[in-house]
Amino acid sequence: MPRRIHILPDTLANQIAAGEVVERPVSVVKELVENALDAAATRVDVVVQNGGKTEVRVADDGTGMNRDDALLAMDRHATSKIAREEDLRSVRSFGFRGEALPSIGSVSRLTLETAEAGDVGTRVRVSAGRILGAEDCARQRGTTVVVRNLFFNVPARAKFLKSAAVETRAVVDALISLGLANLSAALHLESNGRNLLDLPPASDLVERVAALWGDAFAGELIPLAHEVDGITVAGLVARPDAASETPRRVHLFVAGRPFNNRGLVHAAEQAYRTTVPSGARPSLLLYLDVPPGAVDVNVHPSKAEVRFRDRAAVEQAVEAAVRGAVATLSSAATLDRTPTLPQLRRTREAGAPTPSTEPPGRAANQLALFVPTLGPLDVEEQEAAGEGEGADAVPMESRYALWQVHDTYILAETRSGLIIIDQHSAHERILFEGLMRAFDGGGEASQRLLFPLTLRLSPSEYSVVEDLQPLFRQAGFEVEPFGGRTVIVHSAPNPHPYFDAERCLRDMIAELAEGSELTRSATNQYERLAKTFACKGAIKAGQQLAPQEMRRLFDELFGTELPYHDVHGRPTIVRLSLKELERRFGRSG
Ligand SMILES: Nc1ncnc2c1ncn2[C@@H]1O[C@H](COP(=O)(O)OP(=O)(O)OP(=O)(O)O)[C@@H](O)[C@H]1O
Ligand SMILES: [Mg+2]
Repeated sequence: MPRRIHILPDTLANQIAAGEVVERPVSVVKELVENALDAAATRVDVVVQNGGKTEVRVADDGTGMNRDDALLAMDRHATSKIAREEDLRSVRSFGFRGEALPSIGSVSRLTLETAEAGDVGTRVRVSAGRILGAEDCARQRGTTVVVRNLFFNVPARAKFLKSAAVETRAVVDALISLGLANLSAALHLESNGRNLLDLPPASDLVERVAALWGDAFAGELIPLAHEVDGITVAGLVARPDAASETPRRVHLFVAGRPFNNRGLVHAAEQAYRTTVPSGARPSLLLYLDVPPGAVDVNVHPSKAEVRFRDRAAVEQAVEAAVRGAVATLSSAATLDRTPTLPQLRRTREAGAPTPSTEPPGRAANQLALFVPTLGPLDVEEQEAAGEGEGADAVPMESRYALWQVHDTYILAETRSGLIIIDQHSAHERILFEGLMRAFDGGGEASQRLLFPLTLRLSPSEYSVVEDLQPLFRQAGFEVEPFGGRTVIVHSAPNPHPYFDAERCLRDMIAELAEGSELTRSATNQYERLAKTFACKGAIKAGQQLAPQEMRRLFDELFGTELPYHDVHGRPTIVRLSLKELERRFGRSG
């Protein structure tokens, strides 16, 4: 009888393995960046073209490889990271299977350039799994891998790739996750020539979180640290009073690697139960460590999930850790917050009449109507979005696809359609709340002017400065009445890069002197000043913004107490639902 069983040729075996490891461009990015971080890189540069479908390039300044290792790395099961079965019990590196490079190489055209310190570099070229050659090349220590034309030799897989925008978002999200797993390396992402992520080395988690999502978001988080039976849980979680408002972000890590686990998210949410309204989704950045052998990291083809030996114990530890952090806060929080803003928050939460800055009822109603969905999808939503995405589908982070139109409005995709924010109104809201908070705290930061300004004012304007001088100082304006209707300005705040301190201050003084609807609607001097500052100092319509600036505006707006209206009570956000779009295009019914 003829034999029916035979060993698959290497290239075919690699392609089959690639089916599991390389699902889409983001898998390539993830594997290559993980390799860079495993090689102790201090800086990783990622460039993608067309969502990574056309090209992914990852360059690092890590240890690099000599020629033998560079060639060996393209072989299946070639790894420097573990040697024995026991090593897997306590593995700290991202990689351990020795499958990523050969898998990627089998479904693309791959070029690897690498050099160890002081050595001549090697370039290896691979196409559809075949090594085309290895040659000398000049380069500094480190490794660059370029992957072009993903799935060019497996058209059936290429067909399943999503739009470039969707793939790009997945890449951003994967890098955010790796950026939270490794704080000390600088991470940079460019997509079609646009800079999408620029993370400097961070000395702690708060710093990295602020670089990713802004100071306002970072300020809404509380630290936690907990240990029981060798299980440690550390990280940052949302303050209970912020849990329902800021966009939600969930990231779990164990032994330094990201993973998904719905049970643990649920356990953490349980800890909030008595402190947040039901349905609130707190942000969670949780870093777990367990004794060697207590977690199996090799249970999922792309390592998106892990298996804990004692799942219940880990869930209990997470719940206890979060509960502990929330409990310490709730006693302190009532003391250190001053009346103005918490009052606004309480008013809205209780559904009581909204404060005077808001048209009655509108803010509360809109909140109930829609909560912006700019955070990553959480685990449940990923699963619901599921089919074809795979269990490790990277959460989509819509906030990275922001469009500015007419240098005035910013568009962002949400789960149920799209939202448009008015950049000036949004920034007014941010500045107003920021200054009110600064009045309660130590005052606004300010910058000393290299050349002090001299302003000549009308008598009524001059007396405004005399009356409000201490408040101006707290707002960051060091103004000195100099006599003869002249004031000297020594320092000014710097709320955004396009800020014109002189113009802002002149306009503020004029408005405060003349009085307006805005200043009359204020209940006290602090509010009067904060409203005029917000109105005059905010980014103007017609100002072109860089992508990071737009992102920051979004982050900060959704970090405010009342994001939906500016200080005049005008809307900051307009929503266009998919339903509405469908209706207008005649798609409905
Ligand atoms: N950027 C890099 N710098 C230095 N060495 C690298 C780099 N990328 C890969 N290597 C070397 O090549 C080997 C193979 O890489 P590959 O990603 O295929 O496997 P791995 O990282 O060991 O395991 P896994 O398949 O789980 O990722 C690594 O073990 C490492 O020694
Ligand atoms: Mg690897």
